[in-house]
Amino acid sequence: MFGNRIFGVAVIALLAAAAPARAQDDIAAKAQTCAACHGQNGVPIDPKTIPIIWGQQASYLYKELHDFHSGDRTSPIMAPLVKEFTLPQLRELANYFAAKAWPEATPPSRAIYRRSDRHCGAACRAAVRGS
Ligand code: HEC
Repeated sequence: MFGNRIFGVAVIALLAAAAPARAQDDIAAKAQTCAACHGQNGVPIDPKTIPIIWGQQASYLYKELHDFHSGDRTSPIMAPLVKEFTLPQLRELANYFAAKAWPEATPPSRAIYRRSDRHCGAACRAAVRGS
């Protein structure tokens, strides 16, 4: 009886420890889809048509993903992609990419900066100033 209870507590502790790790892995796996266009290292495969999402503010990224999802922002590319995700998953993706470093080695073009300058975070502004 007592032994079982200890076992139960140990199992719960193990599950609790494993859950966040699994969630992280899930997001990293999902983010691989995004890397196909937005880049493995934060530099989009075609910087003229694909915006940098690494190091953008989480609230900005989430707003855009949310709007693609709801149809408030149209994109024949992004809209079908985000439909695969729930809003909480899009929130996690936004947090995931916001935590990445802005790709400083190749500063964004002026065109891309202008697209999102209202939301350009401190690291983003510094990178653009340096360009
Ligand atoms: C097939 C290429 C492709 C894939 C895959 C892709 N994107 Fe995009 N993404 C784009 C393009 C192109 C745009 C610009 C759309 C526009 O302005 O109409 C964009 C725009 C965005 C934006 C808006 C950024 C801004 O500053 O305007 C966000 C956020 C974004 N993508 C996140 C993601 C996430 C997260 C994933 C993975 C779930 C993803 N994208 C997968 C091509 C892609």
